[in-house]
Amino acid sequence: MTHRPDPPSFRKAAARFTTGVTVVGALGEDGRAVGMTANSFVTLSINPPMVLVSLKSGRTLSAVSTSQRYCVSVLDAASIHVSSHFAGKPVDGDPPALVEERDFAVLPGALAVFACDVVQTIEVADHRLLIGEVRWCRHEEGRPLAFYGSEFCSGPGTPIQP
Ligand SMILES: Cc1cc2nc3c(=O)[nH]c(=O)nc-3n(C[C@H](O)[C@H](O)[C@H](O)COP(=O)(O)O)c2cc1C
Repeated sequence: MTHRPDPPSFRKAAARFTTGVTVVGALGEDGRAVGMTANSFVTLSINPPMVLVSLKSGRTLSAVSTSQRYCVSVLDAASIHVSSHFAGKPVDGDPPALVEERDFAVLPGALAVFACDVVQTIEVADHRLLIGEVRWCRHEEGRPLAFYGSEFCSGPGTPIQP
């Protein structure tokens, strides 16, 4: 019989998987935009265009649950402070803000934006998986912010040949 990995070992192993970093935004009932940093973003299907994020309870999940919409903004390599701000860690200077665009809470200057309607919700442990159908999206050229080994890095590096 195998034993469950202890949380620190599991966290370290999971951190060996490089991800990008996003801000998941939603509009609250008062019309104000809220958002949180999330690296659980996954593309599920190209046609139809489907994505997934995994969010724990908090202001953002409440707003998504009520509006049944969310917007994923992909951060560029110059946006560590944006990631920190939306992960609840105060930063010096003007705080970054999400803006309303076509009924979604969008980060200005994001590398890519995916505006989604929630089509399915699945509860897993203390998180909720929010499967979204992408209503509109756009992208820019640039270097993404990456997250590896619990640290931020500038990705991608030099492409390698197989
Ligand atoms: C790089 C990074 C990735 C994160 N990814 C997620 C995630 O995918 N899901 C999640 O629930 N929290 C994630 N967090 C933690 C949330 O950003 C943090 O708990 C945030 O304060 C929640 O905001 P809220 O209470 O407004 O919803 C991440 C934090 C960081 C720094």
